[in-house]
Amino acid sequence: MNILFVASECAPLAKVGGLADVVGSLPKALRALGLDVRIALPKYDVIDDKKFPSQEMGQFSVPFNGEKHSIAVRQTVLSGSDVPAYLLDHPQYFGNGGVYIEPDASSGGSNAELNRFGLFSRAIPDLINALHWIPDIIHCHDWQTGAVPLVIKSESQKAIKTLFTIHNLAYQGIHLRKDAQQAFDKNVADALTSHPHNQAEINFLASAIAQADRVSTVSPTYAQEITTPANSQGLDTNLKGLSHPPMGILNGIDTDYWNPATDKFLTTHFNAPDEISAAKVSLKKQTQAVLQLPIDATVPLVVMVSRLTEQKGFDILIPALERLLPEKNFQCVILATGDKKFAAELNKLATQFPDKFRFAERFDEPLAHLLYAAGDLFLMPSRFEPCGLGQMIAMRYGTIPIATAVGGLKDTVKNFQFPISNFQTIGATGFVCNEYSAVALIKTIEIALSIYQEQPQIISRLRANDMAQDFSWKHSAQEYVKLYNMILINE
Ligand code: GLC
Repeated sequence: MNILFVASECAPLAKVGGLADVVGSLPKALRALGLDVRIALPKYDVIDDKKFPSQEMGQFSVPFNGEKHSIAVRQTVLSGSDVPAYLLDHPQYFGNGGVYIEPDASSGGSNAELNRFGLFSRAIPDLINALHWIPDIIHCHDWQTGAVPLVIKSESQKAIKTLFTIHNLAYQGIHLRKDAQQAFDKNVADALTSHPHNQAEINFLASAIAQADRVSTVSPTYAQEITTPANSQGLDTNLKGLSHPPMGILNGIDTDYWNPATDKFLTTHFNAPDEISAAKVSLKKQTQAVLQLPIDATVPLVVMVSRLTEQKGFDILIPALERLLPEKNFQCVILATGDKKFAAELNKLATQFPDKFRFAERFDEPLAHLLYAAGDLFLMPSRFEPCGLGQMIAMRYGTIPIATAVGGLKDTVKNFQFPISNFQTIGATGFVCNEYSAVALIKTIEIALSIYQEQPQIISRLRANDMAQDFSWKHSAQEYVKLYNMILINE
């Protein structure tokens, strides 16, 4: 079976968020199951030519914006695999700035953005012709590729099926219809779905939902949540109208890359449950030294690796930290970039509590690995979470999540119940906050801290439970194969 992944991000080539991790790891798992999977993405400036050398395979020309655009195809391979990755090279539209025009994957509606992802989507049929390789299914991801199902149908490639995976319903790709009409051929532009209640705007995500052969998302709970008006970001009618409801397939993580026994960013490794405790003490001291926090093996280390957006729960976390930092004995480290408002508040906390709190406002892969491994507790208090990878990575390193009960967090973190009974500890993997509020989060963090201090045997049990979870792609890749087959036989 031939599958072409079409996406705006792919780790390690170009990464902003979890989308890149999925597009950079699921194809490897599918390839191991015998599928011929390949990936297409724009050749951004941020893709490092030295680290990821590519060869030009040819050129083709694409009609867009009333002009002919010449695009070169360059081929590289996904690191540590034989998955081909095709980089579409068009310096004028794809080359300047980072991956997105906006600081994150949200849609600002600018023409630069429409040009970038519109041209990329419009180029896919020509890419397929140039490759002389015909996919059975094009697997599209998020709004940036929302026009692909339509473009494919309107070109002479109707036999190719499309699957559209929603990684985040909050980002939709909303543009003025008149700009889209200018950009795309008339038959494509006319068929783009309007933004709900505004005929003057088109919505790329809604278009893909309407035009793809099937729609999926990245966890079973999120698949349910998004059909309710409260969680559908205005698209519940679009999603409800589908003959097949969106299927929720839980993401996996790359368990070779995220492996506490071999992690190349760590100097202390661990594997067996009886090694965790000593390893974490040594890693904690390294973290404290690196971040110039007081060296103390006994203080609980609470960590977070995230993006500074509303989604990730900073509006409840910051008040919770303001309350807990003066009162409780713990250290907290947050590694994240994004929204300036949250960054300013976190910087203020760092100034107020120099012995307890650090905010690292940067991309720092080695520090991310160190925090995942050294942490005692991992914060993930998301307002909504399509899947979430951080909690799974943390658990792989025996770092116990404190998470809200939403989306993929609900599917992956099993709550430790308070008060304690042995029975309740057996399957538990974390501390779940059942209500989205600062008060509920404070309570949940307090419970976790008091257990850490008073009942180390429970912490050991939770760590061992966490490390025993299987978050590899093995199971979910098989689910995708089943879904691909259903699409092909039109079930
Ligand atoms: C988005 C979602 C996140 C998900 C990731 C990969 O970043 O916000 O929940 O894990 O995509 O699917």
